[in-house]
Amino acid sequence: MTSTMNTHDRGATVEQTGGPKGSHSGVEGHSINHLGNFPADFAWGLATAAYQIEGAATEGGRGPSIWDTFSHRPGGTRNADSGDIACDHYYRWATDLDLLKELGVSSYRLSVSWSRLQPGGGGELNQEGVAFYRAVLQGLRERGIEPYVTLYHWDLPQELEDLGGWGERETAYRFAKFAVQTVLALGDLASKWITLNEPWCSAFLGYGSGAHAPGRRDLNIAVRAAHHLSLAHGLATAGIRGVDPSAQIGVTNIVTDIHSASSSPEDQAAAARLDAISNRVFLEPVFHGRYSSSVHAALDDYGLQDAIEPGDLATIHAPLDFAGINHYQRVIAHNDPSAPFSVREVPAQPATTSFGWSVVPESMTAVLERVASEFTTLPLYVTESGASYHDYVDPNGHVIDTERVDYLRRYIDAAGEAIASGVNLKGYFVWSFLDNFEWGEGYSKRFGLVYVDYRTQERIPKLSAQWYTALIGAHHALNARNYTSA
Ligand code: FCB
Repeated sequence: MTSTMNTHDRGATVEQTGGPKGSHSGVEGHSINHLGNFPADFAWGLATAAYQIEGAATEGGRGPSIWDTFSHRPGGTRNADSGDIACDHYYRWATDLDLLKELGVSSYRLSVSWSRLQPGGGGELNQEGVAFYRAVLQGLRERGIEPYVTLYHWDLPQELEDLGGWGERETAYRFAKFAVQTVLALGDLASKWITLNEPWCSAFLGYGSGAHAPGRRDLNIAVRAAHHLSLAHGLATAGIRGVDPSAQIGVTNIVTDIHSASSSPEDQAAAARLDAISNRVFLEPVFHGRYSSSVHAALDDYGLQDAIEPGDLATIHAPLDFAGINHYQRVIAHNDPSAPFSVREVPAQPATTSFGWSVVPESMTAVLERVASEFTTLPLYVTESGASYHDYVDPNGHVIDTERVDYLRRYIDAAGEAIASGVNLKGYFVWSFLDNFEWGEGYSKRFGLVYVDYRTQERIPKLSAQWYTALIGAHHALNARNYTSA
């Protein structure tokens, strides 16, 4: 897949250069150095998103979303993979929730599909969709697992895209109405709401590079979309507060650790630009109520200032209860006048995941400390962190993903280091519970702690699942000891 901008190009793959040397081959030694830093009520979780796992794309009254259209369009996704069936979670949710419980997590981050709940993006909710999510949320409650519900994880109803999608302001108002209706329909079963997942991807991959649905390539629309997504978040937050004062609301941003390729002023300016257009453009309006001069300098030529109407920034700056951070990568920024925004980025080394994404645990500490010091003192959650590897079922029927165990051990420990330095981190959600439909990369990238055989829909917990369960158990045991000795 080609893209007109390279920012976080999710299409790039490099050959795996081999696993980490000296990593553990089992779950023994499951603990991590900073385990004692994690608070007793820490939310240990797993995350998924509706389109990536549900399947049943035309069932239960669901309407098409931009991902249905995009994945069925020639050249849309790798091998024309789509979420038509995915993990068949729509039908297997009950046994999937049993598995979640067996894994010992206290929390689960899921998303609701807008086009399942409100097929055309307006009007009354589809009661079959409501019944499905009510059953899932009720099922979580019965299993003692707390839901964190994302209201928008990229599946815009196609009808709204036909009216201009996120390039149109109206979409923000439609989203706010949908959010309010959803909280009214499900709010007795969930109290943690995440308005948007990674609006950066929706705006810049959806409308800029075209690597994601709806696959449009126009940076002016991408920049307007960015502002409209932030507006959608602010309007939805106010709307939800109006109907459910007990709701706890946050937003999830991807926060990338950006380093300059060299000490040259050109590369340093490129790194600052990349930070402006990938991190600051979303963190600033939400947490500071303004766009800084560096964001304006990078994006006004593409219409940012023109998209802002009086009152927007105050709306976007609505008080929140927590901040969600998805962190995957450290990237290196090079000045490159031939690239969009004159910045070319490459993953930092080692870039050993099957996606070619970097493995630099210190970046997790750095982004958590940065958000806490520069943007907000609210409680933070890592709402996604994980890695794709070339997992396979061995002749014994096992999936021994030692690289992922090593990755998680180091990244979670790095989060513990941030806690030790004073960051108020309340939870960590590993991406992902199940292998699933990885957007433009289809089924070729496996992120799950549970392996999915897509042909039979068999679920096989990987070694990393055992490791995570053991880690959570060790944390509980530590707390129980502290409690008895107190
Ligand atoms: C994030 C997305 C999530 C998944 C992971 C790998 O950007 O939020 O749905 O695709 O990347």
